[in-house]
Amino acid sequence: MSSAEQDARESELTEQVLGSFADAKDPRLKALLEALTRHLHAFVREVRLTEREWQQAIDFLTAVGNITNERRQEFILLSDVLGVSMQTVAVNNEAYGHATEATVIGPFFLEQAPRIEVGGDIARGAAGQPCWVEGVVTGVAGNPVPAARLDVWEADADGRYDIQYGDARVTGRGHLFTDAQGRYAFWAVKPTPYPIPDDGPVGALLRTASRSPMRPAHLHFMVSAPGLRQLVTHIFVEYDELLATDSVFGVRDSLVKAFRTQPAGTPAPDGRELFDRTWSRVRFDIVLAPSGQA
Ligand code: BEZ
Ligand code: FE
Repeated sequence: MSSAEQDARESELTEQVLGSFADAKDPRLKALLEALTRHLHAFVREVRLTEREWQQAIDFLTAVGNITNERRQEFILLSDVLGVSMQTVAVNNEAYGHATEATVIGPFFLEQAPRIEVGGDIARGAAGQPCWVEGVVTGVAGNPVPAARLDVWEADADGRYDIQYGDARVTGRGHLFTDAQGRYAFWAVKPTPYPIPDDGPVGALLRTASRSPMRPAHLHFMVSAPGLRQLVTHIFVEYDELLATDSVFGVRDSLVKAFRTQPAGTPAPDGRELFDRTWSRVRFDIVLAPSGQA
C-alpha cells in the first residue's frame, strides 16, 4: 500500500473517532475527549506503536490499578513521575505578582490533622532534629492575612510519613492559624530526603528508566484564607544534593530555603528547653494571590 494511502487510512480513523463525540452534551468534556483522541492517535502514529508494546502498556496500567486501594494511589504516583501532576499545578496556579509558587500535593496530606497554637509542635514525637519554622502570610500588596489556616505535614528523620507506619500514630502533621499580624510559627523536625513508594509498577518504571525514586527534603504547606487563592506548596532545604533530580519535578527555586543550624545551647525563640540538642530554624514568608486567579 502506498504511504499516501496508509496516511489517509490512519487520518480517517482519527476523524471517525473525533466525530463519535459530536453529540456529547457537555462542551468541556467534548473538547477534552477530542483533544485526548488527537494526542493519543498522534502518539501511536508517531512511534509506530507495535501491538506487543500496546499490550505491555495495558498490562502496566492494569498493574497500576491492581495495587491501588484506599491507602495507595498508584495512578497519582504515575502522574507525578511523568510530570503531569506538576504540569497541572503550573497550569492552574498562574504566576501572579510575587505570589508564592505552588507545587505538588503528594499522597500524604490528611484532612484531619491536629490543631496546634502558634508556636506549637507538629512533630508530636516524630524522629528528627527540632526545627523552628516561622513566617508571615500576606496578600500581594503586603497586607498581613490574619486567621489564615496552615496545614503542614512532613516525613520523619527515617524518611517516612506517619501513615506509612500502618499504626495509629499521628506525627509530623498539624494545622494552625496565623495571628492578628498574619504571623505563624511552629516546631517541626528538619526535613529529610525520602523515596516515593517504589515497590509497585511505578517503581519498576523508574528502575527501567534508570531514574531515582528520591525526593529532596521538604516540608509541605497548604494555606487557605477567604478571598485568596488556596496555596499548596512545600519548602525545600538549601544545598540538598537532590534538588536537581526530584522524582516528581516539584522543586521551584523560589521554594528553596535556608534551614540554619543552631548549635546546642543556642536559646530557642520561645524559650523551649532543647536539652542541649542541635536544632535548626527556617523562615518562610507566604504571599497569597487573590482567589479567582487561575
Ligand atoms: C510527597 O512529597 O509527599 C510526594 C509527592 C509525590 C509523590 C509521592 C510523595
Ligand atoms: Fe512529601
